[in-house]
Amino acid sequence: MYDVYKIRKDFPIFSHKIDNRPIVYLDTAASAQKPTAVLQQMRRIYEQAYANPHRGSYTLSEQITAAYENARKTVQEFINAESAKEIIFTRNATESINLIAATWGAENLKQGDEILISQAEHHANLVPWQNLCRKTGAKLIIFAITDQGEFIKEDFAQKLSARTKLVAVTAMSNVLGSVFPLKEIIRASRQTGAKVLIDACQFIVHRRVDVQDLDCDFLAFSGHKTYGPTGIGVLYGKADLLRSMPPYQFGGDMIDQVTYEKTTYADIPARFEAGTPAAVQAIGMAEGLKYMQDIGYPDIIAHEEQISAYATDRLQEVPNLKIIGNPDKLSGVFCFAINGIHPQDIAFILNKENVCIRTGHHCAQPLVNRLGYTSLARVSFGLYTTKEDIDSLVSALLKAEKFFKE
Ligand code: ALA
Repeated sequence: MYDVYKIRKDFPIFSHKIDNRPIVYLDTAASAQKPTAVLQQMRRIYEQAYANPHRGSYTLSEQITAAYENARKTVQEFINAESAKEIIFTRNATESINLIAATWGAENLKQGDEILISQAEHHANLVPWQNLCRKTGAKLIIFAITDQGEFIKEDFAQKLSARTKLVAVTAMSNVLGSVFPLKEIIRASRQTGAKVLIDACQFIVHRRVDVQDLDCDFLAFSGHKTYGPTGIGVLYGKADLLRSMPPYQFGGDMIDQVTYEKTTYADIPARFEAGTPAAVQAIGMAEGLKYMQDIGYPDIIAHEEQISAYATDRLQEVPNLKIIGNPDKLSGVFCFAINGIHPQDIAFILNKENVCIRTGHHCAQPLVNRLGYTSLARVSFGLYTTKEDIDSLVSALLKAEKFFKE
């Protein structure tokens, strides 16, 4: 039986107060709070098993090396990759996508080629491709979504062609929470020979990812959204593809043999992990994934659906509030607007009640503009969100509405 109040006790931040009032955290899509298990594991490594991994022949270094490589194994199992070698630790999902652009992209794209993305992409899955197109002469093609943020099969099919070398799509919009039919997208892309990169940053927090079942070529996500620390992310890539790519950065740990004349490179994953890795963060990230695994996606999904349904119901009490997206399919993150009140003003009043939401363009400026706005208010839920959080949100929104009406 899912006990959200028991789960909240695992998150020290919820016993912390600001101005003697509890924190109502509704910004998990930006970054999730951290359970004690993650914090303790990172502390334990720093206190008892810390050294530079892969480099020392003494016990401490061997211990952290084993813990770092076990973290890779945990990620492999979490997303069902065929091999732990297919898991590259990066700084975050943004770096994972930039890595593909800088290596596979720079190597394989030329004038006349196309990269296909959706209108719903986060800047991290748009700007690197714009930059790559500028450098290579390839063209960025955007397929449309509905006003509710849903996939339009016909538009995608029309824009996918033999010129498409890469399809890079989000699995779940960080603005609308809408989910794309990944298998359909990947199957269609396979037929034209395009590679597929999935931005799973939001999706993986709320839904299970199985890279073998999906058959995607690349997939990116971040540790800090999956209840782990900042400074660590994952790039999954099919082994053959990763092995065919040139290194991303050059330096220590990514080499095989170095002479003054030339260098041969290490096999994956080391080839893409130059320099001292963020090992403690990777170990913390794995702990966050284990925490999610212990609860299990069926319970996480059921809980978040319950919270989403309660939120959409209660938000109807707020005059002039419009949910942006499809309220029937909310998946833990959605935006809203209140006619006559700027989102920044909403956030200002909410902050006085310790209600944390994100406002603005949500790193998806073209999408927010496409929906007819320049700024939106966003709420997002996690496995610790309670109905009381929603009650606090609604009561603060009613205050804001009253304040700005008068
Ligand atoms: N990508 C994060 C968000 O959507 C920062 O808020």
